[in-house]
Order: sequence, then C-alpha cells, then structure tokens
Amino acid sequence: MADLTTGYMGLTLKNPVIIGSCGLTHSVKEIKKLESHGAAAVVLKSIFEEQISMDSDALSSDFHTHSEEADYLRNYTKQHTLDKYLELIKEVKKEVGIPVIASINCASAAQWVSFGKAVQDAGADGLELNIFIMPAGIKEKGGNIEKIYFDIINEVKKHISIPLAVKMGFYFSGLANTIFELSLRGIAGIVLFNRFYRPDIDLKSEKLTTADIFSTPDEIYLPLRWVGMMSSEVKCDLTASTGIHDGFGVVKCLLAGAKAVQVASIIYQKGAEHIGVMLNQVQEWMKEHNYSSIKDFNGKLAQENIKNPQLYERAQFMKYYANASST
Ligand SMILES: Cc1cc2nc3c(=O)[nH]c(=O)nc-3n(C[C@H](O)[C@H](O)[C@H](O)COP(=O)(O)O)c2cc1C
Repeated sequence: MADLTTGYMGLTLKNPVIIGSCGLTHSVKEIKKLESHGAAAVVLKSIFEEQISMDSDALSSDFHTHSEEADYLRNYTKQHTLDKYLELIKEVKKEVGIPVIASINCASAAQWVSFGKAVQDAGADGLELNIFIMPAGIKEKGGNIEKIYFDIINEVKKHISIPLAVKMGFYFSGLANTIFELSLRGIAGIVLFNRFYRPDIDLKSEKLTTADIFSTPDEIYLPLRWVGMMSSEVKCDLTASTGIHDGFGVVKCLLAGAKAVQVASIIYQKGAEHIGVMLNQVQEWMKEHNYSSIKDFNGKLAQENIKNPQLYERAQFMKYYANASST
C-alpha cells in the first residue's frame, strides 16, 4: 500500500480526505463514523454569526420588558449557543484521534475574535474562517471588501496560536491577487472554494427557490484551475473543495498542488463508506503510476511545473468557436 500521508495547515494527515464543514460534522457520533471509515480530519459545522444574532433577537423580541433584562437574555442565549459548540469540540477531541478543525462563518472582525480563543482553549487543532461578504452593493468597491477579509485575519490571529485557514469564495475581480494577498497574512491554509447557497426560479409557481444544495462532479474544474494556478504562488497550503466526488478527483487536486481536499456532498449522497472507496481509488491510481507516496506527485501539474502553463488560463476554445461559427 502506498503512503497517503500529507500535511495541511501544519497538521499531519493520514490521507488527503478531509470532511468539509457541513451537517455531518456536527455530532460526535457522525464524526466517529467518518473517522472509522478513513476521514483524515474534520472541519466542524460552522457556527454562524447570523445564527447567534438570530437566536438572541428572536428571544429578546418576545421579551418586551426592561432592556437590561433583554440584554441579559441576549447574552445568555449567545453564551448557550457558544457553550454548545465548545462542548462539541471537547467531546469530539475526546472521542477521535484525527485533527478537528473548528469553523466560524463570519463577515466582520469584531464579533468572533474572542470566540477564536475559546475554540482554541476547547482543544481544536485548527480554525477555519468561512468568510463571505456578498459583493452585491453597487457602491462597494472590491478593495474595501478585501480589506474586511484582511482585518478579520489580523484580529483573529492576535488571539490564537493554532493554525488558521480561510475558506473563501470566488467573487473577486482580482482573484489571483486576493488569494495571494490572503496567503501573506500568516494563515496556514486557504480552502478553494466555498460553495454557496444558489437561488433558482421555479417556473411553475414563478417563485424563487433554492438550487440543489449538493455539488456535481463537474464542479471540480473551478477549484482545480485555481489550485493549479495558485499552489506554487501562495505562502500557505491550499485545499480544494467543491465537486470532489471520487478518488480520481482527489488525485487531480493533488497533482494541481492541493495538500488535501475537503468533501461534503458525496458523503451525504453515498455515506461515510464512500471515504474508503475514494482512498482505494487513490491507491489504485498511485499503483498504476508507480508512486509510493503523495509527495512523489503532489504539485506535479501545478502551473509552474508544466510545459504549457497557459493551459490553466485559457478561457476559450478557439477550435470550438471556429467550428461553431462554420455550422
Ligand atoms: C448540507 C451542507 C451544509 C454545509 N454547511 C457548511 C457550513 O456550515 N460551513 C461551511 O463552511 N461550509 C458548509 N458547507 C459547504 C461544504 O463544506 C463544501 O464547501 C461544499 O459543499 C462544496 O464541497 P462538496 O462539493 O464536496 O459538497 C455545507 C455543505 C452542505 C452540502
């Protein structure tokens, strides 16, 4: 058997398959199952800024008395949600041997900074900041939004010593520059990319609905391109996320230079057993190609290591367009 060990965020992983933050990583029982089927690490379900604010506001709006009491209640509710999360970290750490990465979904520097320290004290091996600011404001300039990302990192870093990662989206005009700039800020990893809630339209009812929450395998090409282009440029590790549904997808991301991958949708669809299937496929490919360890091929097809690096940047197929225009 080939050696599947890899390193991500300064953590040693027994293989490159991390279970990304999702509902499956929100209970000790599920996480134990994921570990028993081969998961190398888990990113806990994110605690959301909105979730905590909503809990507090919902309660306090029912509470039409003295504002001091409403404040007390708001603080109590907030503390309760946070305590439950910290309890989860402690319990999971007691029960499993794999690295446990906490996750905070945030959009501002202020609210979560002290919680990062609490997460560390509870025993998390790392912290992933799931930062998302929808650039929907027509007066909001890109640079201002990027500054919020940098500020959040700077603030959180002041309070923790465990490795920090940023999970990001791709709604940036200068995406390569943003990824690079993020990597200069002392973080240990970047996750490319988060997959967001996607609105759809139901034609029958003429109403806005939600598109499928699970990815499809062809969504892998987005992270694959950006991991390939950025893995030899950034000053931290990259993991690929979105559309990785089998071991061959894992291998592609490793070839492009990811240190590991994060998976969610396919584990919902096929169960924890699928982790073993993916790892067998990685083994199978490595055997066929005579590799005995991940480092033998990790980054082999990163942009800087290939003869024709423009292939990653190519946006249009001349051949396709030429043929299409002649039909
Ligand atoms: C049901 C569900 C819940 C999710 N919850 C979170 C979350 O709390 N925090 C987060 O950062 N990502 C969350 N994600 C996103 C996943 O971690 C992952 O980035 C995304 O689904 C793309 O990976 P995939 O193609 O393997 O599903 C969730 C995904 C799903 C399907």
